[in-house]
Amino acid sequence: MAFGRVPREFIDDLLVRADVVEVINARVPLKKKGREYTACCPFHNEKTPSFTVSPSKQFYHCFGCGVHGSALSFLMEYEHLDFIEAIESLADSLGIPVPREQSGKGPSQAQLQRAKNLFTLLEDANKYYQLQLKSAPNAIEYLNNRELSQKIIQRFNIGYAPVGWDNILKTFSNSYSEQQLIDSGLVIQKEENNKKYDRYRDRIMFPIRNRKGQVVGFGGRVLGDEKPKYINSPETTVFHKGSELYGFYEARLNTQKLDRIIVVEGYMDVIALAQFGVSYAVATLGTATTSDHLKQLFRAVPEVIFCFDGDRAGREAAWRALENAIPMTQDGKEIRFLFLPDGEDPDTQIRKIGKDAFEAAYDQATSLTAYFIEKLNERFNITSDEGKARFLGEASKHLKNMPDTLIKDQLLARLAKLTNVGIKTLSRRDLINNEKRSEPSLSFSRLSNREVRQTPIRYAVSLLLSDPTLVKYIDNFEQIALSELPGSDLLTTLIETIQESPQINAAALLERWRNTEFEAPLIHLMKWQPETDDEDVLRCELQDCLRQIRKRANEIKIEEMIHKARTTGLNDQETEEYAFLLRNRD
Ligand code: GTP
Ligand code: MN
Repeated sequence: MAFGRVPREFIDDLLVRADVVEVINARVPLKKKGREYTACCPFHNEKTPSFTVSPSKQFYHCFGCGVHGSALSFLMEYEHLDFIEAIESLADSLGIPVPREQSGKGPSQAQLQRAKNLFTLLEDANKYYQLQLKSAPNAIEYLNNRELSQKIIQRFNIGYAPVGWDNILKTFSNSYSEQQLIDSGLVIQKEENNKKYDRYRDRIMFPIRNRKGQVVGFGGRVLGDEKPKYINSPETTVFHKGSELYGFYEARLNTQKLDRIIVVEGYMDVIALAQFGVSYAVATLGTATTSDHLKQLFRAVPEVIFCFDGDRAGREAAWRALENAIPMTQDGKEIRFLFLPDGEDPDTQIRKIGKDAFEAAYDQATSLTAYFIEKLNERFNITSDEGKARFLGEASKHLKNMPDTLIKDQLLARLAKLTNVGIKTLSRRDLINNEKRSEPSLSFSRLSNREVRQTPIRYAVSLLLSDPTLVKYIDNFEQIALSELPGSDLLTTLIETIQESPQINAAALLERWRNTEFEAPLIHLMKWQPETDDEDVLRCELQDCLRQIRKRANEIKIEEMIHKARTTGLNDQETEEYAFLLRNRD
């Protein structure tokens, strides 16, 4: 594969030639609605369409789950491609070859290549472990004893790391550097003497895949009772425990219609459930469920069921999950808790009672609000005034983190009823989060002015994104560049970029700043759509923005001068400049 950099101009040009509507429509049929196209969002579950595609900006956005981007982002998300693969796929569909620059320029390319190598290394290791399993009778016997079917062993690519300290070191030393082996987490380097050795020895290996299906790490289990029972990959540049979920990729791949996900504690639980037809289970990797995990889950499904062992450890883990879930509560998304009988985990339970009974038990799962109250009730005795006060004190600590939702309203109502304290008193006790309720936005234009027109700079950026050719109405913006007003760097970079590549469109502009500090503000401002196409109106608006920005920049400069005059005094040139600024103040 060619690894030279893809020239930036090519990406701009590609995004000008490609049509995001066509690209998406070929995969998710779109309906025209006004100036935009809509569909039910392919990235989360919904019944009414909130996925919107703007042909003028070449940009899509889902008002339900927040996904957004260009034709390239869509291909990356929808087809699980990386950036370069998405470029290749898009170019291919237009019949254009992808040019490569001769020498890689800049560190990001090298980083990209290194990350790429880590992925191939981990995938190669995955293949190696699977191959080793074939010739390891003891490992095969272990899996047989745990009653794993051949099919499920293959679906989860279960493998075996053989006995020995240097199998990985030897097998991969020709294709990868020792540093790469260490960076991948497969090899450990001792600090005392720099000695290197394989992390996983004589263990059943479970590859962990990311959202795109790339292997990012492993879990390894001993065949016997030795400790530690499991070893997980350390955090690496491609593996972050707080954002990966074991089995999530496989769940999406093997579930026809994913409408709920069950979160369990172990690898073997995910696998056993899948073997018995519950293909939609995922596990956290020895950590509590993070808000990032939940965010990802809610993008995919509206309902998440946490399943815990019935023992004390399970109940403690459940409370931690609840604490992390509270800030993530959203109307329309459901979180519930399912407790298994003491002594069972999902692996043993499903083998005992089978799929139907296992799923039937979901009906008994406790809602987040009910579990919250149940737990507090266990801890505090609300028959006394003092107990009641402590109960409410504890409740308020958690409720402060809860977004203002109907779920919260219901919870407050239940707390009020339970404690006989009126809702008004509860809210005085700061139980109610005073953040403004955000109104749902249904189209690009609706999101509009209230949110975007806040500052003239932001508005100018939005105008330029909606129609980059408006740049021709901008002259001398040096003053803006020098002003250090918030956002002036973004605006000036944007102006310069459009001036250099006058044919560029909004989607290509966005791609220029992928993975930079400008990406988030650009995406936010891109959601705004002017209510008119009339170029004269837009020109006036833009020029008005620039006038206001200059004026504000002027004021700041004057304030600085005044400050300087009072402290160190002004020299001749500064005095002249000050006079000039005052004359031009309007
Ligand atoms: P089996 O005994 O194979 O059925 O495992 P289990 O899934 O029932 O294991 P358990 O409930 O003990 O642990 C659940 C999860 O916690 C595992 O899948 C691991 O991710 C993690 N875990 C368990 N033991 C260890 C350990 O010794 N070290 C680490 N790092 N993680 C562990
Ligand atoms: Mn188990």
